[in-house]
Amino acid sequence: MTSLRLTVKTNESDPLPEIDMSTHLGLLDLKNPILTASGCAAAGRELDQFFDITTLGGIVTKSVMQNPRSGRPTPRMAETPSGMLNSIGLQGPGIDSFIEKDLAWLSERGATTVVSIAGGSVEEFARVAGKLRLAEGVSGIEVNISCPNVESRGEVFACDPVAAAEVITAVRRNTAPNIPVLAKLSPDVTDIVAVAQAVVAAGADGLSMINTTLGMVINTETMRPALAGITGGLSGPAIRPMAVRCVWQVHQAMPEVPILGMGGIRTGLDALEFILAGASAVSVGTTIFHDPTAPARIRDELTRAIAERGFETLIDAIGYAHREPDVELAPTGPAFVEFEQALDDDQADVDL
Ligand SMILES: Cc1cc2nc3c(=O)[nH]c(=O)nc-3n(C[C@H](O)[C@H](O)[C@H](O)COP(=O)(O)O)c2cc1C
Repeated sequence: MTSLRLTVKTNESDPLPEIDMSTHLGLLDLKNPILTASGCAAAGRELDQFFDITTLGGIVTKSVMQNPRSGRPTPRMAETPSGMLNSIGLQGPGIDSFIEKDLAWLSERGATTVVSIAGGSVEEFARVAGKLRLAEGVSGIEVNISCPNVESRGEVFACDPVAAAEVITAVRRNTAPNIPVLAKLSPDVTDIVAVAQAVVAAGADGLSMINTTLGMVINTETMRPALAGITGGLSGPAIRPMAVRCVWQVHQAMPEVPILGMGGIRTGLDALEFILAGASAVSVGTTIFHDPTAPARIRDELTRAIAERGFETLIDAIGYAHREPDVELAPTGPAFVEFEQALDDDQADVDL
C-alpha cells in the first residue's frame, strides 16, 4: 500500500463504514476476522441468545477429546489483576457426543465452525481428527497442543518442536486436504518461532496463538494455592502484550503463514493491534465471560478502526506495523500539516 485515505473518527451511532472485512486462514474464507476463542464460548449456543453467531467470522469450539471428561477438581478459576487463572482441564462430552449434538447444531445454524481438538497422545489426536473427517459442518481444525492444564507439564506438546510436529503430522494425515489445520501454540517457550516452523513443516496450514500462560495464585487467607489444580492458565488483558509479541515474531519470520491471534482482546483497538502485528483474524476469549456481546461489538469497533485509518480492506492492514517507519507522518512533517489542515474538511488524502 502506498497511500492511505485517512478519515475522521466515526461515532458508534453512525452506520458502519462499508469496507471489505473478509479475510482467510489458508483455505478457510471468513466474512470477517472475529472468531470466538476455544473454551470461552462452548459451542456457541449460549452466545446465540445475545447476538446472531453466524455474523461472526467463526466459532472455535471448546477443545474436545476422544472420551467424556469431567476436568480438574474445583476451585478451578481465580481472579488476577487484569486477567483470570483457570484450570478447567479440558472438561467435555467426548468427540461422539460433540459431533452428534454440538456440531450438528452449529451446522444447522449455519455457523462457520473451527473445531478445537485435544489429546493425551499423538494417537488420540489422530483418532479425534479421524472422526471429524466423516462429520458434516467442519470448516477448520484447531489443534490444541498447548493446554497448560494437563496433569504433567511434560505433556504440553507445544513446548517441544519435535512432539508438536508429530501431533500435527498425525492430524494432517487424518484430515481432508481442503480443511485447514491450525496449530495452537503456547507462549511458555523460549523460541516460539522454532515451534511455529516445526508445525508448519509438519503440515499446519496456520497458527493460533496464544494459549494461556502458566500461572499461580496463593490465597493469603487460607495460605494455600487458590486453585485445586495448584497452577492454571492465565488469560485476559494481562497477557495481551505477550500475545502481540508472539504474533509479531512469527509473522516476521514467516509472513506467508496465516495467524489467528488471541490473548486479552477486549476492544476493536485491541484486535487491531493483532492485525497490525500480522494476524489474519483474531479470537475473543476471556472478555466474553463478563460481556457476552463482546465478539459482535469488537467486530464493529474493528470495522470502524480499520476505516478510520484509511484502509479499504482488512487484508491491507494485516502486518502493517512491520513496514518501515513513515517519516512523512512525523508531527512536524509536511504531510502531517497537510493532514491536520484537511481534517478541518473532515477528510484527508495523504501519501505515505
Ligand atoms: C476458561 C477458559 C477455558 C479455555 N479452554 C480452552 C480450550 O479448551 N482449548 C484451547 O485451545 N484454549 C482454551 N482456552 C484458551 C483460550 O482459547 C485463549 O487462547 C486464551 O484464553 C487467551 O485469550 P483471552 O485472553 O482472550 O482469553 C481457555 C481459556 C479460558 C479462559
